[in-house]
Amino acid sequence: MQVAGKMEEVRNEVVELARSAPTANDLMQKMVRLLHDRVLKYNWVGFYLLEPGANPPMLVLGAFEGAMTPHTRIPLNQGICGAAASSGQTVVVDDVSKDPRYLACSLETRSEIVVPVFVHGQVVGELDIDSHFPAAFTLEHQELVQHCARVVGKKLETSAS
Ligand code: SME
Repeated sequence: MQVAGKMEEVRNEVVELARSAPTANDLMQKMVRLLHDRVLKYNWVGFYLLEPGANPPMLVLGAFEGAMTPHTRIPLNQGICGAAASSGQTVVVDDVSKDPRYLACSLETRSEIVVPVFVHGQVVGELDIDSHFPAAFTLEHQELVQHCARVVGKKLETSAS
């Protein structure tokens, strides 16, 4: 199947998941599995959520698919993850070996995207995807991952955890 068609299909499956998942936690579990299983270049897919009330703020690993990572708690001043959460911006790194912020999760990782998740305009966490392929996160991938993060933010706004 053409890449564009596949991406459209995955996007629609994500919308369907959001409709059927009873809770935001359930949605995040199912979403990481879907993205990891359906998109060849997504080799590690996970959510980090800001720990409620933590001072200083801390990102804590939530649902994920892929190898276990040593980075289960990340302060906002560390990593690509900290950069995305503290800026509220999507961060795309085409070559992780050239980015001094990068915290290694797997030796095989070549590129990474981190997209913040917002609830009522505030960052509450992020969706992090690692790829074994360099520069995997082209514009159409960025749009898909941003779509996924928006869907989770909406679910968090409208449902219990
Ligand atoms: N690479 C991330 C750390 C998380 S692992 O990739 C799962 C970072 O630099 O923040």
